[in-house]
Amino acid sequence: MTELQAKLPVQIMPSILSADFGALNAEIASVESYADWISVDVMDGRFVPNITVGMPVVRCLKTRLPIECHLMIEEPWRYVEEFVKAGAAMISVHLEACGERTAETLQKIRALGAKASLAIKPATSVEEVEAFLPLMDGVVVMSVEPGFGGQKFMPIALDKIKWLRAKKPDLDIVVDGGITSETAPLCREAGANILVAGSSVFGAKNRQEAIAVLRGL
Ligand code: DX5
Repeated sequence: MTELQAKLPVQIMPSILSADFGALNAEIASVESYADWISVDVMDGRFVPNITVGMPVVRCLKTRLPIECHLMIEEPWRYVEEFVKAGAAMISVHLEACGERTAETLQKIRALGAKASLAIKPATSVEEVEAFLPLMDGVVVMSVEPGFGGQKFMPIALDKIKWLRAKKPDLDIVVDGGITSETAPLCREAGANILVAGSSVFGAKNRQEAIAVLRGL
């Protein structure tokens, strides 16, 4: 662990993808005293083979925690303003969906007053985000193929995290997918400072304990 890594406190971002969608605010209430963010996975059935929720549901979420909206959708630039208005404090858009509109989309998110982060799928090389580093607050390193919770962690994410931490020490490095008591230490050690966790938190008997374990406490 480098000296800087020790300085960035680890933040836990429970993903509601694995929560009870019929009682989202109660589910959020059960973790918000112990977590740092709430993550909402937005899926359109085109960019990923699953469909979840959109702006109306984000608008209904009641929490004092900042909300991150992970847009796993085509043409995300069309919706970033509505997600910020719905309450998103951070918006993560996929490099694979933005293409030549990546810089414009990141700038738009920041201009709207939210944190901008760029997400990359497992098959995308981390060097592809280098040009956009000055325009972003964070990178979401996917450690599973986006679309579903409960998948197995892909260790390919660890070298990407190390590369990013070396490139931009003050960057929020988010790792998302298969984060458990076993994989969380690997990600913290590699330099990730925000861990997204769905099934390991909402599937736990004791959610407070599950979050503490992910923090390394
Ligand atoms: C995949 C989702 C998941 C989710 C976390 O598209 O982004 O990674 O947030 O799910 P778990 O923690 O169950 O792997």
